[in-house]
Amino acid sequence: MTPTSHNLFLILELFVVLAGCISLDYSGEALTTRYWDCCKPSCGWKGKASVNNPVGSCTADEKPISLDAGTGCKGGTAFACSKQQPWAINDTLSYGFAGVYLTQEIVGGATEDAWCCACYQLDFTSEPLRGKSMIVQASNTAYDINTANRFTLAIPGGNTTSVDGCATQYGISQSVFGQDRQGVATKDDCQNLPESLRSACQWRFDWLEDASYPSANFKRVVCPSEITAKTGCVRNDDSTFAEQTSGNATQAKPSLAHMTRATLGVAVSAAGLAALLTI
Ligand SMILES: *[C@@H]1O[C@H](CO)[C@@H](O)[C@H](O)[C@H]1NC(C)=O
Ligand SMILES: *[C@@H]1O[C@H](CO)[C@@H](O)[C@H](O)[C@H]1NC(C)=O
Ligand SMILES: *[C@@H]1O[C@H](CO)[C@@H](O)[C@H](O)[C@H]1NC(C)=O
Repeated sequence: MTPTSHNLFLILELFVVLAGCISLDYSGEALTTRYWDCCKPSCGWKGKASVNNPVGSCTADEKPISLDAGTGCKGGTAFACSKQQPWAINDTLSYGFAGVYLTQEIVGGATEDAWCCACYQLDFTSEPLRGKSMIVQASNTAYDINTANRFTLAIPGGNTTSVDGCATQYGISQSVFGQDRQGVATKDDCQNLPESLRSACQWRFDWLEDASYPSANFKRVVCPSEITAKTGCVRNDDSTFAEQTSGNATQAKPSLAHMTRATLGVAVSAAGLAALLTI
C-alpha cells in the first residue's frame, strides 16, 4: 500500500480542523477583579483582533465616537461607553463586559488577538457567588497581572484607578467613584454617580453581593447578540465557533463536525501512523 495524495490531504485537513478546535475553545480557572476607569477600552483600537468592528467608544457625553479618537485618559476625547456595563438576566445569570488576560499556556503566547471581543461564561466557584454565572465579552485587556487568567469585571463605581479618567469624562470629583482599589463603599453611594451608571453600580451590591475577587471557571461561549449590540464588535471566528459548539455539520464534511476533540485526536494519530507505516 502507498500513501495516496488523497490520504495526505485528509491528514492535513484533520490537522487544520484540530488546530481550529484548540485555538477557539479556551477554558480554565480564573481570578476576577473589578474596574471602571472610564478610559477607551483596549479592544476599541483597530487591528487588535479579527473582528467586524473594534469595541465602540464614546464621547464624554456618551455619544458614539470615531474609532481613531485617542483615549480621554491620555488627553484624547474617547471614553468607555456607559452602556457597556453589567446587568442581571435573572437570579443566577448576568451579562457584562470585562478586561481579560489569559496566560500563555491557554493562548499559546498570543495576546489580545486571542480574546478581544470573545465571550466567556464565568461559573463562580467561591462564596457567596457559587452557583451563579456571568457571560462577559472581552472589551478590554487586563495587563497588570500576567501570571494567572484574569477577568476584571467592568462595574461602574467598582474600583478607581490612578488615572482620573472618570473625573475627566464627567467633570466631577474622582472621589465620587469611591476609594482607590475598592470603589464606592455602599449601595447608597451609587446615587452620586452619573445617572447612566447608577443601576450597574447597584447591581454590584444586589446580584454580585458585593463580592471581591470571586474565583471562576471560564469557558468560551458564542456571544449573545444582546451583548455584542452594546459594543458593536463580533469576532470573525464566532460563527466557526458556533458551528463547533452546536455540533452543526458543514455540507462538505458532515462527519468531522460531529467528532469530539478526543475522537479527532485519535483519528489524526491513526491517520499519521498509517501514513508513516506506508511511506
Ligand atoms: C482594583 O484594581 C487594581 C488594579 O488592577 C487591582 O489591583 C485591585 O485588586 C482591584 N480591586 C478590586 C476589588 O477588584
Ligand atoms: C436564567 O436564564 C438562563 C438563560 O435564559 C436560564 O438558562 C436559567 O435557567 C435561568 N435561571 C433561573 C433561575 O431562572
Ligand atoms: C444548525 O444550522 C441550521 C442551519 O444553519 C440552524 O437552523 C440550526 O439552528 C443550527 N442548530 C444548532 C443547534 O445551532
